[in-house]
Order: sequence, then C-alpha cells, then structure tokens
Amino acid sequence: MPTSTPDPVSDVALVIAHLSDTHFGHDQGEAAERTRRALDAILRMDPPPDVLVHTGDVADHGRPEEYAEAVQVLSAWQGPLVVCPGNHDVRAPYVGAFLDGAPGASRGWANRSHSVAGARFLMLDSLVDALDGVRQDHGVVAAEQLAWLDAELSWDTRPTFVCLHHPPVAVGVRLMDPIMLSDPGPLAEVIGRHPHVVATLVGHAHTMATSTFAGRPVLVGGGVVSTVPLDQEDHPVVWYGASPSFAVHLLHDDGRLTTHWRTV
Ligand SMILES: [Fe+2]
Ligand SMILES: [Fe+2]
Repeated sequence: MPTSTPDPVSDVALVIAHLSDTHFGHDQGEAAERTRRALDAILRMDPPPDVLVHTGDVADHGRPEEYAEAVQVLSAWQGPLVVCPGNHDVRAPYVGAFLDGAPGASRGWANRSHSVAGARFLMLDSLVDALDGVRQDHGVVAAEQLAWLDAELSWDTRPTFVCLHHPPVAVGVRLMDPIMLSDPGPLAEVIGRHPHVVATLVGHAHTMATSTFAGRPVLVGGGVVSTVPLDQEDHPVVWYGASPSFAVHLLHDDGRLTTHWRTV
C-alpha cells in the first residue's frame, strides 16, 4: 500500500539562520572576514531564511568602532535581524548600534521582542556589567526581566523562541561551564509555564551543541570567531583554526524543530 510522503519543503513554516559570537575587533580571530564567510553562506540560500538571529558577543571589547564594523558587515543581510548582547558586549554602544539607542522595554536592559513570519523572538539581555573595569563572563537574568518575559509570553501564544547569550545549562566543557547563566531555575519556571516556547537559542559556548532546558531544546548557534572544543579533544582550548559555524533551525508546520549546523 503506497504511503504518502510529506513535501520536504512545504512542511517548513519558518527558517531561522542563527549565528553567534562574531567578536568584531578580536585581535586573533579575523572576526570580520569570518563573519562574512558565514553570512555569505546564509545569503546564498534560496529562498533566504526568514530571520537572522545573533546571540551575542557581537563585539570583542564593546568599542563603538567594533559595532560600526559589525553593522557594516551585517548590513549585507537585508531581512529581519534580531540580536541580544553577550558578555563581551558593552550595553551602551551595543544599544546605540543595534537598537537605535532606545532604552530597553524593561528598565536598563536591552531586552527586545520581535514578531517575524508568524513567530516571536524574545531577546533577553543576560550581560553583567563590568565590575571595576573587569569584564564579567557569567550571565544573569534579573527577576524584573523574567517578569517582562512572562508578560510577553502571556499575551501572545504564537510559536516563540527565547534567545539569550548564556546557555542556561552546562555543556560539559570545563572552560565554559563555570560562566554559564547563573541561577537558571527561575527562567526554567517561566518557560515551563508557556508551552508555545519552541526552544531556547543561545551562544557563548562557541560550539555546535544541543541540550534541553525546561523540557525543550536549547541550541547553541556555533561559533563564528572560534570554536571551543571538548575537554577530550586534542585542540587548543580556544580553537581559532576551526571553521566558522552557524545553525539553521527549521520550524515545521507540526511544531517540531530541526537544526542543521554548517561550517564554512
Ligand atoms: Fe563569545
Ligand atoms: Fe560569551
């Protein structure tokens, strides 16, 4: 008896290109050139993805000139661009470059909500300000931000991606696990209350990885400027020789999500 096979393209409702950790201004990493390589691969996709997600560490030192270069390189992408800041970003110049300098929806933070092609992207600012000039590498999402997230998730139940720089779970890498999101329990509680959250999209770990959080996928976008290998691998602790990587997430009509990673 013949079985019907779903059309492999028409059952995809949304295509998300996801890159992370471009670190513009990095002195070792050829950041602009590596970002162009990843972006070129995305720009060659036909039809193009519906949205480009950047999960932070846009710049390496958070200098205005690094954001100017990031904006210039990323402007090759003409579609919707949704971003959140990472630990290497500095909030004021980041907001100036990517959010028109406007204050955040919740006090002081660069949280943003976006609607794209029938889905929502809730961008959380997990950046901890430098302390006495020392960059803070772990991430924090404050109670006030979680209240904003909960409210955003409550009024609109379309498929939603929660995006932040810091993975809310350990990824099994000694270099990264101490600097993940601190106290992820309250975030898990909020996401747990909202079944329309499809996945959590993150960066920071510089690796093509997937785990679970609040019963849903947590997906690392890869690393553009470098890759952080497993402890068991015979590579430098931060591997600048690795090819830039990015992710493509496909949201199917039935609500499933499939992720493909690419290196370029
Ligand atoms: Fe990074
Ligand atoms: Fe980071």
